[in-house]
Amino acid sequence: MQRIFSGIQPSGVPTLGNYLGAIVNWVALQDQHDCIFCVVDLHAITAWQDPATFADATRGMAATLLAAGIDDRSILFNQSAVHAHARLAWVFNCVARMGWLNRMTQFKDKAGKDRENVSVGLFAYPNLMAADIHAYHATLVPVGDDQRQHLELANDIAQKFNHDFGREFFPQIEPMILGPAARVMSLRDGSKKMSKSDPSDQSRINLTDDADTIALKIRRAKTDPEPLPEDPRGLENRPEARNLVGIYAALTGSDYAGVLRDHGGKGFGPFKEALAALVVEKLAPIAAETRRWLADPDAIDRRLAEGAAKAAAIADPIVDEAERLVGFLKFRR
Ligand code: TYM
Repeated sequence: MQRIFSGIQPSGVPTLGNYLGAIVNWVALQDQHDCIFCVVDLHAITAWQDPATFADATRGMAATLLAAGIDDRSILFNQSAVHAHARLAWVFNCVARMGWLNRMTQFKDKAGKDRENVSVGLFAYPNLMAADIHAYHATLVPVGDDQRQHLELANDIAQKFNHDFGREFFPQIEPMILGPAARVMSLRDGSKKMSKSDPSDQSRINLTDDADTIALKIRRAKTDPEPLPEDPRGLENRPEARNLVGIYAALTGSDYAGVLRDHGGKGFGPFKEALAALVVEKLAPIAAETRRWLADPDAIDRRLAEGAAKAAAIADPIVDEAERLVGFLKFRR
């Protein structure tokens, strides 16, 4: 059975983008695969996180994943609890080339004009991401479309490591970028990704938003004046319309054509009402279940600690072997 690894940062409340681009697929994949899911707190500190609330943010993200349906079939843990990630990331820092990382579009976007002032960790972030996956010899990685370039880099790193140290040790990985909502866009600007870190709360649906807030955000979502097309080709060059139809399709397990069969020709008014009702219907039970988990933080911590022990049992021997290939002096245990 191929092993799956994926992660999510505890750097804010998860959005509908995280849910449709990643979490929903993770829940479904548990059926057929050996799955490892990680709340990536090491990644989150590449930008400032308030120490007073950071542990709770990590618990909160774990609670959301459990509420959405990640269950005992999967390993769930927080990244800092398994040291193999940081150990392998250091080796990969010495394998990856500056030029490769300089090409990462997400770094360019996040650093913006302030390149000199962002953390070194933000620059080296994709190396840690490669370590997350390769520490488990995972080969399938379900993510949203924005992670594609990072996964290509993870393959380049594996290839160079194998070449430099003379053994086919790390396998190539395959991104799983699934469904019509692999790139959910901002509700205010169809050219920008929906993001937990966007300064405008109106740009996103948070998984914790109540029904009224969700309905209002969708009603106010930017659209164009034309009615919905009857044919998916009519969504070309209409990014906002395409985004809302994609969200509707993902939430109903349909596709663009299926949604347009029912809603094509309608104006945005009635379509937005139908979409708001659908989003509320799908997210409300997750929000309620998240609150139930959060009322028992010890239960979340127990679940993460168990997951971390299982994760370490897989990753430690793999990273030990990688260190032997590098030539570190290793003592018998
Ligand atoms: P993060 O925390 O930004 O997002 C978690 C997952 O949600 C997806 N996603 C989206 N999908 C569709 N539309 C959107 N608007 C949207 N926004 C986010 C992301 O693609 C991701 O799958 N670097 C990763 C976390 C990570 C990771 C890994 C992933 C760390 N190590 C190893 C896979 C394997 C990140 O920052 O995700």
